Amino acid sequence: MIQLSIVSYALLSALAVLVAALAVDVYRRRRMQAKQALIGHEELPAAPGPRSWPLIGSLHLLGGYEVPYAAFTDLAKKYGPIISMNLGSQKCLVVNGLNNIKDVLVTKGAHFDGRPNFARFHQLFCGDKENSLAFCDWSDLQKVRREMLRAHTFPPTFSSRFSQLDIFVADEMRDLTSRLDATNGAFTPIKPELMHACANIFTAYFCSKRFDRHDAAFNRTIDNFDSIFYEVNQGCAADFLPWLLPFHSKQMAQMKNWSHEIREFMENFIINDRLARRRQGLVAQDESTDYVEALLEHVEDQQTEKLLTFDSALFALEDIVGGHSAVANLLVKALGFVASRPEVQERVKIEADLATGNGARPLTLQDRVTMPYTDAVILEAIRMISSPIVPHVSNQDSSIAGKMR
Ligand code: HEM
Ligand SMILES: *[C@@H]1O[C@H](CO)[C@@H](O)[C@H](O)[C@H]1NC(C)=O
Ligand SMILES: *[C@@H]1O[C@H](CO)[C@@H](O)[C@H](O)[C@H]1NC(C)=O
Repeated sequence: MIQLSIVSYALLSALAVLVAALAVDVYRRRRMQAKQALIGHEELPAAPGPRSWPLIGSLHLLGGYEVPYAAFTDLAKKYGPIISMNLGSQKCLVVNGLNNIKDVLVTKGAHFDGRPNFARFHQLFCGDKENSLAFCDWSDLQKVRREMLRAHTFPPTFSSRFSQLDIFVADEMRDLTSRLDATNGAFTPIKPELMHACANIFTAYFCSKRFDRHDAAFNRTIDNFDSIFYEVNQGCAADFLPWLLPFHSKQMAQMKNWSHEIREFMENFIINDRLARRRQGLVAQDESTDYVEALLEHVEDQQTEKLLTFDSALFALEDIVGGHSAVANLLVKALGFVASRPEVQERVKIEADLATGNGARPLTLQDRVTMPYTDAVILEAIRMISSPIVPHVSNQDSSIAGKMR
């Protein structure tokens, strides 16, 4: 049985992969960066869009949909692929279509590399969203953080990190299936099981640590990460209407509490012990290549110039470990989609049986190449759950498809 309702409903939008929302706060920055404005922009037409009302702008148009972002699809039918609209006082461009999205994210990526200044994001990261990997503006700090991560998040095929990941995934899958087998088909909520398995893959891979299914502190940490994941995937009117914030004070305090508890867990169960052993030269062989080691090396090594403080290293680690929520929630959704489509299940099973000799060995990451159908099912699930969770903010005047605001 699958508990779909727990998953952020904002992730349900089937079309959102085609829709990138950009908050373009050109006004705020225009004066500052007038010199950077590209010649000729003044003559470009503004994108069409709905009428704007005082205070709310066109925010009311996002109401009445199961997911607010679904409104963008209807608006695109009316106004075309590039829509200009005010959300609260934020001037926004909503961009549809692959080529236009590529323009924003790639070709002109440097023009749109900021992230919105939502109060919620500050709350989740100790008052400063620049502590976050996903909600920060582009900066030298971010550059360092991303470079340190690359080897871990994109391990080349056949590299030792890649095969380590394979082993951790196989270990957790074995653990998960034996737990599920032990239920003898009794009703078992699958989400907590998947959350635990994914969280352990992440902590094993990034921190060289795994935790028992009955570990209460780990369980609570997983729930805290999940709460944050749910929160960041919600659209919230107060993001665009800051005068609504006083009505959200309880929610804001709750968010702070989740991130504080996560910090306590990371310190008590991952960092403190490692740091102490590291200082005594007692880091184990398999720990010496993990992400925790890379972070600690950076902050502890006296030689390097420190762009990353101890605090920002911890935030980065928490962010990355928190990525398990995205994967586990995707898997819950993917299983839900597949559960209602027996013919899809059947084809996935045939591929898996072929790849593993009817289950004679566990699946590995390399099997992906011989399982194109399963690969496509996963990609389709990602397409169906994606939401424009992290709008981009422009740092200068720019244009998309000849339209400018
Ligand atoms: C199915 C799983 C996932 C989905 C659908 C997803 C979706 C997204 C989306 C839509 C963005 C915004 C991209 C942009 O605006 O440029 C994003 C950014 C990001 N995600 Fe994920 N994500 C997933 C898994 C993960 C995982 C597992 C991690 C961490 C291990 C992660 C870490 C990040 C980070 C750090 C960013 C910010 C990237 C940057 O701006 O440099 N995500 N994700
Ligand atoms: C953690 O424990 C609570 C209560 O026992 C349970 O409801 C929740 O599903 C568990 N979460 C995970 C991820 O196991
Ligand atoms: C978070 O809230 C819970 C319940 O209100 C409380 O027991 C706990 O001490 C709080 N944790 C932190 C770190 O503030």
